[in-house]
Amino acid sequence: MMRRIPTYFHLTIVTVGIVSMIALTMQDAPPLIRQTSERALFACLAIFIAEWLGKLVYAARSGTLLAYARSVGGLADALAVVPLAAALLLAGSSPTAWLIASLWILKLPPASSGLSLLNRVIALEARSLASVATLFFVILFFAAVMVHLAEREQQPAAFGSLPGALYWAVTTLTTTGYGDAVPQTGLGRLIAGLVMIGGLAVFGLWTGILATGFAAESRRREFIQNWQLVSNVPFFKSLAPSAIIELARLLRRWDMPEKTVVIREGRVGDCMYFIAAGAVEVQVKHGPVKLGPGAFFGEMALLGSGVRTATVITTEPSTLLILEVADFRAFTAANPDLAHLIESEAGKRGGKHAHAAEKAKGG
Ligand code: CMP
Repeated sequence: MMRRIPTYFHLTIVTVGIVSMIALTMQDAPPLIRQTSERALFACLAIFIAEWLGKLVYAARSGTLLAYARSVGGLADALAVVPLAAALLLAGSSPTAWLIASLWILKLPPASSGLSLLNRVIALEARSLASVATLFFVILFFAAVMVHLAEREQQPAAFGSLPGALYWAVTTLTTTGYGDAVPQTGLGRLIAGLVMIGGLAVFGLWTGILATGFAAESRRREFIQNWQLVSNVPFFKSLAPSAIIELARLLRRWDMPEKTVVIREGRVGDCMYFIAAGAVEVQVKHGPVKLGPGAFFGEMALLGSGVRTATVITTEPSTLLILEVADFRAFTAANPDLAHLIESEAGKRGGKHAHAAEKAKGG
């Protein structure tokens, strides 16, 4: 697997690069700032070239060159280097050539994963988006023809030709309307009103399609990730596939660094946790109890008084799956076996608590 370079590395270099690029476009900046910016830009480019070559060599050695070159990350790495290096070689170092450094923004991981999400949403919704685009062009074209007919006598300069009328239709349909071409006849204004309403409808539809597409695709990705995590938790192995699917929908993934307090004793609890990866330490009176992958915790508050009985801290970077109390109740009601398992474990843990408390009193 390609090793992940920490996000802050790219964030720092990209920030330095983009700030330097901006500084270079400021003609009245002191020469020292412009020189430093140019040097910083060369340094950033050198780092990106070294990183790209390193990744290419690594991918070639591990036989994943094609996969890397075609991946969103691979594409972002190539775009960060090739166009800029070519422009610098052909035209020399100039503020205009360095503007290509704006492509570095694509190297930020959220940008590349956002791009792959957008790509997928556009691919899935292509037909709906294309129908709205067609509607846009139909309205645009008919509006231009009609306003040309209605206004060409009064305003030949603005509406005398179809290209002029089309320009007006675009600015009106996109609700930009600069006011440089305005219908004067009653019919022309009626058409303008209809076109503006049509524009709002078209953009509303586009936004709606993209927003629902994004939401559905994010849910689908989250479901696949949760499904993989849930089916790897040994505790769920006994569940029927339909129950695992249900759980994958209900659980929320939470990635935590080590030494993070997940639960604090005495607080009110409204969810329980399953450990998909990593480990936690439960701080109980008779000494810390370590729980690893497949174990669960946080169930006692849900089954008892609602108050947490111990503090729980991660001992290594961990992936937890969270089940909210309402989902916990509904799910355990539908899966009595799982409910029984959780209750008996909570009973044992509660027993240990009582035992430790009694020992403390006796001592
Ligand atoms: P809860 O009380 O909701 O929050 C703290 C959690 O620590 C508790 O649920 C249990 O899941 C867990 N816990 C408490 N005591 C023990 C124990 N003796 N062994 C393992 N886990 C425990």
